[in-house]
Amino acid sequence: MLPVFVAESADADPDIQFMPGVKRHTIRSLGEEIAELCELGLRSFILFGIPNQKDARASGAFEEDSVVARALREVRARCGDDVFLATDVCVCSYTDHGHCGLLTKSGDVDNDPSVELLGRMALCHAQAGADMVAPSDMMDGRVRHIRDILDANGFSALPIMSYAVKYASSFYGPFRYAAESAPKFGDRRGYQMDFRNSREALVEASLDEREGADVLMVKPAQAYLDIIRDLRAATSLPLAAYQVSGEYAMVRYAAAAGAVDERAICVEQWTGLRRAGASIILTYHAAQAIRERWLES
Ligand code: PBG
Repeated sequence: MLPVFVAESADADPDIQFMPGVKRHTIRSLGEEIAELCELGLRSFILFGIPNQKDARASGAFEEDSVVARALREVRARCGDDVFLATDVCVCSYTDHGHCGLLTKSGDVDNDPSVELLGRMALCHAQAGADMVAPSDMMDGRVRHIRDILDANGFSALPIMSYAVKYASSFYGPFRYAAESAPKFGDRRGYQMDFRNSREALVEASLDEREGADVLMVKPAQAYLDIIRDLRAATSLPLAAYQVSGEYAMVRYAAAAGAVDERAICVEQWTGLRRAGASIILTYHAAQAIRERWLES
């Protein structure tokens, strides 16, 4: 599954600092790119939106004409049901403060109103034609709330891929430039997990499973193979592993310097993720892999 960035503004710089080869698309160029990749055989995408306006209420996240809703309609019009379109559900690129939820007056993340907003965002994506929604915010109780909202609005068959085990990680650096979503103050350690802690992963994952998640994700991927393996033993749900921006950048830059063979490194990493128990891999290398036929022997 390829993560893609789509910006509302046509003036957004298409090149993303520290992610060579990954673009910040316009709605139109995203449609073109996905149509081309679909033709080559890549069918699975997850969309991240970058709105024009950011505000404290994340109002660009859930309107009918939000950037992701428009992008979904554009891609669907071009590719129909040949593509599987997941969407990231989180407000960090829509809030002016860059946190993954709404804030209280004192500047703490306000869990319950944030969950409410995520429900509206997920419904907006469903109504615009998403095949799956993927909440990445790590608020408590959001999977159940999103499930309830989707069920109540005729989307009971729409799956939820929960970023169930998401660590507060230094590997997200380049993404925050890509999505313009770095927190303006503080950090995400209040809602993301401490990487020293492995048992909490099982607790978070089983909560999400009970709340109705259909796929559980571990993120980042490479440094967390033990977590994937532990989860594989603890649940029957499909597991996804997200090879994040920092993981991409490290391989990319090392390959560009001639230090490693990019294809061989990626195939070895993906095989490791599969061995550990992941059946879905989110990777920025997916476009290059399909263009250069990396998986054909
Ligand atoms: C935001 C979100 C992040 C990523 C996916 N969704 C960043 C963060 O939590 O700061 C990271 C993806 C990547 O690094 O490739 N909720």
